[in-house]
Amino acid sequence: MELNVLVLGGDGIGPEVTREAVRVLRHVAEKWHHRVRLTEGLLGGIAIQKTGTPFPEETARLAAEADATLLGAVGLAEFDQAPPEKRPEKGLLGIRQALGVYANLRPVRAYPSQLDASPLKNHLVEGTDMIIVRELTGGIYYGTPRGITGEGAETRAVNTMTYTRPEIERVSRVAFPLARARRKKVTSVDKSNVLENSQLWRRVVTEVAREFPDVALDHMLVDNCAMQLILNPRRFDIVLTENMFGDILSDEGAVLAGSIGMLPSASLGARRPSGAWTGLYEPVHGSAPDIAGQNKANPLGAIGSVAAMLAYSFSLQEEAAAVETAIEAVLRSGRVTADLRPSGAPATTEQVGESVCAAIG
Ligand code: IPM
Ligand code: MG
Repeated sequence: MELNVLVLGGDGIGPEVTREAVRVLRHVAEKWHHRVRLTEGLLGGIAIQKTGTPFPEETARLAAEADATLLGAVGLAEFDQAPPEKRPEKGLLGIRQALGVYANLRPVRAYPSQLDASPLKNHLVEGTDMIIVRELTGGIYYGTPRGITGEGAETRAVNTMTYTRPEIERVSRVAFPLARARRKKVTSVDKSNVLENSQLWRRVVTEVAREFPDVALDHMLVDNCAMQLILNPRRFDIVLTENMFGDILSDEGAVLAGSIGMLPSASLGARRPSGAWTGLYEPVHGSAPDIAGQNKANPLGAIGSVAAMLAYSFSLQEEAAAVETAIEAVLRSGRVTADLRPSGAPATTEQVGESVCAAIG
């Protein structure tokens, strides 16, 4: 099979974790006799520095032509005061929208060998295994009107949270089949005691649930969910929620996994006739400029994102499973980066990538 992948290293630790993810991709391709065709592009702060815009047209074209896109991270402190259009994050929102990747899957697992890496008590996190399905191309991130107007005491900022029925339906139709292949439980998270947006969300998710009678649906308010994630994370199988709630809850989920460096993600859009998804694959973590270029960052979130790419965009389930098994083997070996608090000397980013390849065999 030919794997046409666009690689966007992005900012901060993005390029170095992506390098290891690509190492693993090439290794898998060699072992299973696939051909990898990589192109590289610019997104985020690096794109602003080189082209003046965070999401250059060239990147949009390359992403449209590729079978899948692998992304590192975006964000640089030097743009913190820049206007909205000239911020790295705008590039990320732009490519998500351009690719139409409306369903963001963020699996959160507490690996047995990493329980001590979480600041939470082991008995709480043990057995955690959920997927947060975050709506990714709607809600308050994209709604209009938006902006800041006026001056002095008259200054006013507006953002708009908006969802349409089809937007809620399509992401729900990703979440329920995922539950079917797991513990058959969807928890839909909203703020329907206050927001009309959430009232529509709850109504539409409940309707879609009727198409999946074998899957149990419950609803939870987002504030309670933030608490239950820590008190009883094992109760969650699929967590289905809107864009901003999913952003916030997935960082909280990272605490259960021991480190945000562990979390992969798959952002899925249209499905081709072959069943392969249009996909953008990126670790959940940010660009972590404080440790950039030091060969210290945990590449397992990026490598896990390659596993997701193999599964969702190339339907290569055996290869995907091999990468996941290799990640677990490396975790058990204890040769992990500093964020996972290894008992011995921490491994480098590169060593972790090499160890995953070695474990794949
Ligand atoms: C994430 C990030 C992004 C988001 C930022 C960088 C725009 O926090 O992917 O979770 O808010 O979606
Ligand atoms: Mg986030």
